[in-house]
Amino acid sequence: MDLLKTTSLSRSFGGVAAVRNVTLAVKDRELLSVIGPNGAGKTTLLKLITGQIPPDTGRIELFGRDVTAVPQYARAQMGIALTHQIVRPFRGMTLGENVTAAMGHGHFNQPVASLFHRPGAADTARARELLDLVGIGHAAGRSASEVPLGYLKRMQIARVLATDPKLLLLDEPLAGLNYSEAGQIADLIVRLNEGGRTVVLIEHNLGEVLRISHRVAVLDNGALLAEGLPAEVIARPDVRAAYLGKEAG
Ligand SMILES: Nc1ncnc2c1ncn2[C@@H]1O[C@H](COP(=O)(O)OP(=O)(O)OP(=O)(O)O)[C@@H](O)[C@H]1O
Ligand SMILES: [Mg+2]
Repeated sequence: MDLLKTTSLSRSFGGVAAVRNVTLAVKDRELLSVIGPNGAGKTTLLKLITGQIPPDTGRIELFGRDVTAVPQYARAQMGIALTHQIVRPFRGMTLGENVTAAMGHGHFNQPVASLFHRPGAADTARARELLDLVGIGHAAGRSASEVPLGYLKRMQIARVLATDPKLLLLDEPLAGLNYSEAGQIADLIVRLNEGGRTVVLIEHNLGEVLRISHRVAVLDNGALLAEGLPAEVIARPDVRAAYLGKEAG
């Protein structure tokens, strides 16, 4: 079954066609990576899927249902979650408090209200479990302003796991990390996937993409340039040219 399907999805910003006519399906329990040069439209594609922005044309189906007109909070309640390219924690809070703040309590649509919901012991324990799951339970009491980026990247994943999503959309979860940290978080993504979560991963770290993905899709100038098995896709001359062209420019 396709857990997610986009059909001829397009979105422009002013004169810039950020996503052009993208038709892409993700199967239940798949780990699909979406790669492509800077500005290729990867983040825009994820924002269209979550409903953060509407498409100009095209259709989005989640769990077999057309959700093109369904608002963002309702899609989140269906079981999708996105971690953002840039981590923006609540700096004055501990990692544990950052996770409890994401827990919802009917405040799905009201992030500010959820901030003022005082976490009970059960929430605090649950936050600790989620931080344990991503490997930083020991740091639950540390302030978000003093921990390394790798901790914040993991905390961000713990936050979205609080809603128990079936479909995880991860926007560059390895960006800015060193080799060993990137490898560990990639391993975590594999474990989450093997635990039953479908993953759409956006990453520039092609070594890890190659290592962990079931399938790779390439966006270039907003359009789908290639999709298939990781090694085959990354070896394709047109895919290499898309990257090299942008880097040279
Ligand atoms: N809100 C916006 N307003 C105007 N233009 C935008 C907006 N969001 C994205 N764009 C443009 O759309 C194109 C695609 O941007 P997007 O952020 O989706 O690329 P990306 O593949 O995620 O790039 P990166 O790898 O750098 O994160 C770019 O040309 C970008 O400048
Ligand atoms: Mg991006």
